[in-house]
Amino acid sequence: MSSADRLIIFDTTLRDGEQSPGASMNMEEKLRIARALERMHVDVIEAGFPVASPGDFAAVKAVAAAVKESTVCGLARALQKDIQTAGEALKPAVRGRIHTFIATSPIHMEKKLRMSPDQVVEQAVQAVKWARQYTDDVEFSPEDAGRSESDFLCRILEAVIDAGATTLNIPDTVGYNLPHQFGNLISELIERIPNSDKAIFSVHCHNDLGLAVGNSLSAVLNGARQVECTINGLGERAGNASLEEVVMAVRTRQDLFSCDTRLDTTQIVPCSKLVSGITGFPVQPNKAVVGSNAFAHESGIHQDGVLKQRETYEIMRAEDVGWSANRMVLGKHSGRNAFKTRLQDLGVEFETQDELNEAFARFKDLADKKHEIYDEDLQALVTDATQWSSDERFRLVALRVCSETGESPEAEVTLMIDDEERSGQATGAGPVDAVFRAIELLVDSQAKLDLYSVNSITEGTDAQGEVTVRLDKEGSMINGQGSDTDIVIASAKAYVHALNRVVEPDQRAHPQL
Ligand code: KIV
Ligand code: ZN
Repeated sequence: MSSADRLIIFDTTLRDGEQSPGASMNMEEKLRIARALERMHVDVIEAGFPVASPGDFAAVKAVAAAVKESTVCGLARALQKDIQTAGEALKPAVRGRIHTFIATSPIHMEKKLRMSPDQVVEQAVQAVKWARQYTDDVEFSPEDAGRSESDFLCRILEAVIDAGATTLNIPDTVGYNLPHQFGNLISELIERIPNSDKAIFSVHCHNDLGLAVGNSLSAVLNGARQVECTINGLGERAGNASLEEVVMAVRTRQDLFSCDTRLDTTQIVPCSKLVSGITGFPVQPNKAVVGSNAFAHESGIHQDGVLKQRETYEIMRAEDVGWSANRMVLGKHSGRNAFKTRLQDLGVEFETQDELNEAFARFKDLADKKHEIYDEDLQALVTDATQWSSDERFRLVALRVCSETGESPEAEVTLMIDDEERSGQATGAGPVDAVFRAIELLVDSQAKLDLYSVNSITEGTDAQGEVTVRLDKEGSMINGQGSDTDIVIASAKAYVHALNRVVEPDQRAHPQL
C-alpha cells in the first residue's frame, strides 16, 4: 500500500480513553490492551501522558518496551519538561513518537493559556524542535482546532512543519463541528499550507454531538490519512471516534474511500471485550459493530431475508469483525501449558511462576463450575486476579447471603482490612444491597454508589456475571469490577475493588490543564 492509499490508525484508548471518568487502568491492564492493539496491527498506540504521574510514565515506558510492531506514542504539552519526560519514557521503543500540543482557538489562547497568537506559534515551534531531539517522528496538535481560525491554523501548521513535525493532527476537541464543515477544514488546510505535502494530516474528533465518526470519515474523504480513535469510542466526556466504526466504514465502503487500513479486523470484537472488561464500561447492545445485537435479526422478515441471502440485511460479516472468536477454548481437563499458551495468545504474560500457579488455580475453580471456558472467561479471570495481586487494603475473605421469600435478605461479609480480619452483617432490599451495606459497616468509605451493572460474560445460566460498580467520592468517580459465576460474589468483589481505588485516588494531572 502506498502512503496515499494507507489510512493510519492511531489508537488513543490508553490516553484519551483513560481520561473517561472512572476508566483508569493499571500498568498490567494497559500492557494487555497494548498487546491486543498490536495484534490487531494498529499503527500507532498512544500509551499515555508521561508527565502526568509516575504511574503514567511507568506505563508508557512498559508499553514502549513491550510493543515491537506498532509505533508507541507519548503525549506532551508544548513544554520542555513534558517533552523531556515523554522522550525518556519512550526510550525503550523500537519506534517512538512524541505528540505535542498547544491550544489555538481564540477562547483557549485568551482564557486558558493567556498567551497571544504570536507566543503560541513560538511555543509550538520550540516544542517541535525539542521533540525532534528525541525522535524523528513528531506529531503536533493545535488543540481545539475545530473552533480555531483557519488563517491562524495555516500559519502555525506551516511553522511546525518547518520545525520538523511529521504528523499534523487536527482535533475537534469539543466535538463542535459538523461533517461537511470538518471535511472542508481539512481540504482547506491541505490546499493552503505551502509545505503540507511534507506531513501527514490526522484528525482527532470528540463525540459531544455524536459526530466523531462522521467527522473523521469526512476528513478522510478530504485528504486526512491518520485517524485518532479509541476502542468502543471510550474517551473524555462523550468519547472519541470509535475505532471499530471508522475502520469498518472505510473497509465496507471501499467504493468511496481511496485508502484502507492494515488492521486485522477479526481482532475487533475480542479487543472491544477486553477494553470493556478492564474498564468496566459495558458496550451498549445496539452499538455498531461490537454491540451484542449488531448482527442479531429480530424481525421475521429480516431473518427470512438473511437466511435466503445474507447480504439482504447485512453489510458486514460478523466473523470478519471477530464475532466467531467467541469459541470454547479450554475446559476442566486442560493443562497448565494450554492455559498459559492461550493466555499468551491473548496478550497475558505471567511474570512469576507463583502468578501463573495462582491464575491456574482460579481457572480450575472456574472450570469446576462451568464446563466451557471461553476467551472472555479467561480475560475476566485475569482481570479479577490482577485486582488482588498487589498490596490492596481490603480483601474479600468470605461471604454468606440468605435470601428467602417474604424476608429481608441478610448478608455476612468477612474482609481482610490492613491485615486484620473483620466481619459485618446487614440486611438490605436485596442480597446485593445487603452485601454492600455489610461492607460499608466495616469500611465506612462515605462514598456514594453511582452505578451498578451486571453483564453476562458469555451465554447460558452457568455464565460468569461481570459486575461494575461506580462510586462517587467527593466528586471523583471510581470504578470497580468483579466477575464470578455467582453474581452476588461478583458484586462484592466489584465493590471491594472500587473501595481499594477510593483509598488510593489517582493523582494524575489532566493533559488539557
Ligand atoms: O481532544 C484533544 O484536543 C486532545 C489533544 C491532546 C489532541 O486530546
Ligand atoms: Zn481528545
